[in-house]
Amino acid sequence: MAAPVTWLCLLANLCLLFLHVLAGRDFYAVLGVSRSADTYQIKRAYRKLAKELHPDKNQDDPEAEARFQNLGAAYEVLSDKEKRKIYDKHGEEGLKQGDMRGDPFTSFFGGDFGFGFGGVREQDREIPRGGDVVLDLDVTLEELYNGNFVEVLRYKPVAKAAKGKRKCNCRTEMVTQQLGPGRFSMTQQQVCDECPNIRFVPEEKLLEIEIEPGMRDDQEYPFVAEGEPHIDGEPGDLRFRIQQTKHARFERRGDDLYTNVTVTLADALTGFEMDIKHLDGHMVHIVRDKITWPGARMRKPMEGMPNYENNNVKGSLYITFDIDFPKGVLTEEDKKGIKEILKQESKQAVYNGLQGY
Ligand SMILES: *[C@@H]1O[C@H](CO)[C@@H](O)[C@H](O)[C@H]1NC(C)=O
Repeated sequence: MAAPVTWLCLLANLCLLFLHVLAGRDFYAVLGVSRSADTYQIKRAYRKLAKELHPDKNQDDPEAEARFQNLGAAYEVLSDKEKRKIYDKHGEEGLKQGDMRGDPFTSFFGGDFGFGFGGVREQDREIPRGGDVVLDLDVTLEELYNGNFVEVLRYKPVAKAAKGKRKCNCRTEMVTQQLGPGRFSMTQQQVCDECPNIRFVPEEKLLEIEIEPGMRDDQEYPFVAEGEPHIDGEPGDLRFRIQQTKHARFERRGDDLYTNVTVTLADALTGFEMDIKHLDGHMVHIVRDKITWPGARMRKPMEGMPNYENNNVKGSLYITFDIDFPKGVLTEEDKKGIKEILKQESKQAVYNGLQGY
């Protein structure tokens, strides 16, 4: 019996070697993320490195172009769920082959032959997991525009060794008991192992959260395995949910910003120039020559929020004008003068306010 098993192991090892040779580039290393990194972490790593490695920034380096292309290839594969799955199993070569012949490895190694190499089966077993913790994190619109690092102190329960033993890995098993000749009884029974005892002690932990430019309301920022611990399994995740606080001047919709400006009637008629202070302190210059009516809207492209996926792209800023009318009564002479200037015939229209908006 020993010989075939040895052969099988040798075969498996050879295959692993073979896969390794085929594997090509290590995309995880290129992005500097762990193999368990989630899409968000991959995106973050990519955006950071794309800025650093951009060939325009590294013109003296002859290898800059190649490294940038490597990065692009790594991102393309790891940011795509399907491609990543194939890459994880069969490496870069697997992706090329997968394109042409489906996934040839699966049918060979998979259930068809019932080899059951162990490792694969092992993953299918359900590991108990602690609860996920979701915490709201209030951030200002300024932080979402400029980016920021926020430190959060968390008390995390950490398992420590304690005296005694405890029951663990409990499961139900069927137990067969022979009661007499040809007579059996089958009962379910709780079976447990004995594990060293542990207790949970809260420990301070400083978590650093990067508020990235363009992050959106309700977006979640995960810390893998920082959630509730599980005595027999893995801890859950801790996720911070970005909650934008209300801003005094700007309202955000997608990547666009909206603001209101009140101008005097005189300015509205004669034109004006003004600056609006943006979220990073820069001034948005506004020049208006024509007459401005109440509700008039001006669009400033590229003055909105930075796009989360690509910070070089920004939304628009929409400015809606409101007119501050003077109060009181004009003299007869002024009234005549204004009528002459405006040359508007006296006209009234009665309408249902719901229309036209
Ligand atoms: C602008 O004015 C409109 C109408 O009064 C209001 O609904 C909106 O919230 C205002 N926007 C901002 C950013 O203050």
